[in-house]
Amino acid sequence: MKVLNIGSLNIDRVYEVEHFVKPGETIKTTHYSEACGGKGLNQSIALARSGAEVYHVGAVGADGGMLLDVLKTSGVHTEGVRILPGASGHAVIQVDVSGQNNIIICGGANDSVSKEMIDEAVKKIETGDIVLFQNEISNVGYAVRAAKEAGAKVALNPSPINENLASIPMDLVDYFLVNEIEGKEISGAETEEPGIVMEGLKKKFPNAAVVLTLGDKGSWYFDRGKCIRQEIYKVKTVDTTAAGDTFCGYFLSGITKNMEMHEILKTASAASAIAVSKKGAAPSIPTYEEVEEFLKENQ
Ligand code: RIB
Repeated sequence: MKVLNIGSLNIDRVYEVEHFVKPGETIKTTHYSEACGGKGLNQSIALARSGAEVYHVGAVGADGGMLLDVLKTSGVHTEGVRILPGASGHAVIQVDVSGQNNIIICGGANDSVSKEMIDEAVKKIETGDIVLFQNEISNVGYAVRAAKEAGAKVALNPSPINENLASIPMDLVDYFLVNEIEGKEISGAETEEPGIVMEGLKKKFPNAAVVLTLGDKGSWYFDRGKCIRQEIYKVKTVDTTAAGDTFCGYFLSGITKNMEMHEILKTASAASAIAVSKKGAAPSIPTYEEVEEFLKENQ
């Protein structure tokens, strides 16, 4: 079983700051760096570094060489990534001293993922493959329908939340990977209280499997027959960027390997703890060996 990830690729421009800039304020960064990112790219890398067979589909601009390189060196198949005229997508990321971030994305080539590219990509699908989406490229709704028609299982991380979510046929989704804010949004729950979000998701999507991540409160997996809780592994927070993407990639990788659900959640939680303890998006995503080592040390 392989994973086709039809998703974004960004150049992350990371500004470390004492505190997030306030309206009308000018502040100076304490450190500036560039790294590979984009929710799509991060999730493909997490899948590949954890040992899954993954094919990325998306678009970069002429400046996107570093994005293609990191995918290839991580073991991601990149034949489905087109190089288009114009700039790659990018993100402006502030990381404060506590490791929290805020992010502005600029679509660039991610906004030019066409229906034709999607039609080409779904030809690769064999029944039972997983097609993974986030919400940072054009034509996600079209691609979800095309993937489903081709016999795939559809996984969706509906992030970031914006008006585009309304065009995605959520009833076709088999796996949702959400935090409490995204869960509230897509379920129509009235609050972000995890129990209420969970009930809302179960009611609205009774046939889907859901992973609800709750930051330092851990995560829940639930489907028609199961409901499992996973605690976080406590580490010193350096940078939370891509921690959710790492969890998502490791979770789906576990599904492709037919691992037992407790093990999947434990592994995904450990992988995202490692990501939190390192700087950057793609650079912080661990290999499976690193996760195994971490789990041995943190029984
Ligand atoms: O989830 C983290 C990612 O969000 C960053 O790498 C950034 O590019 C944005 O897509």
